[in-house]
Amino acid sequence: MPTYKLPDLEYDYGALEPFISGRIMELHHDKHHGAYVKGANETLEKLAEARSQGNFDSIAALEKKLAFNVSGHVLHSLFWKNMEPKADDRPTGDLADAIEKDFGSFETFRKQMTAAAGSIMGSGWAALVWEPMGSRLITSQIYDHQGNVTQAGTPLLVLDAWEHAFYLQYQNRKTEFFDAIWNVWDWKDVAARFEAARKTDAVLIGATD
Ligand SMILES: [Fe+2]
Repeated sequence: MPTYKLPDLEYDYGALEPFISGRIMELHHDKHHGAYVKGANETLEKLAEARSQGNFDSIAALEKKLAFNVSGHVLHSLFWKNMEPKADDRPTGDLADAIEKDFGSFETFRKQMTAAAGSIMGSGWAALVWEPMGSRLITSQIYDHQGNVTQAGTPLLVLDAWEHAFYLQYQNRKTEFFDAIWNVWDWKDVAARFEAARKTDAVLIGATD
């Protein structure tokens, strides 16, 4: 029984047009995300095999494969939920206040997040992360799916900067894609993640008294 499952999209492939084409969404979800789910389950099987044979010669490669594929699955699952067809143009409430406190303004946060996405060398993601040790929001530039991750940080909003996320529609004009995607962020989803992540502070830091 596979542990990981490809989640269904909560909207049609073409629902985010004209900002993201239906064909990109179909390929991105079904083929690319699907491949990470398959890769994660296959790696779990190989690890079970290694345990039953008592042979851990390939453990380093398998750990890398597991981190890559599970993280790819996690980030894509989050990415689909971070977007919606009829999006508000910016967050409100506590999330808006926290963004203003930690980045200066929504506009400077948007610039920082877009710059993080646009300057990734190779494949990766930009992320808005809740960092519990400092009780603050930060941005992260994630290499592939798993490198450069801030330990204990919870990703709230992720921007896929892999070429497969935009090339069919935007070709080499990736900054146009990073600009367009701000039309489809689901700020209610991001705010709900922010509220949930903040509650984990005490547990993670151990400051429960
Ligand atoms: Fe992707």
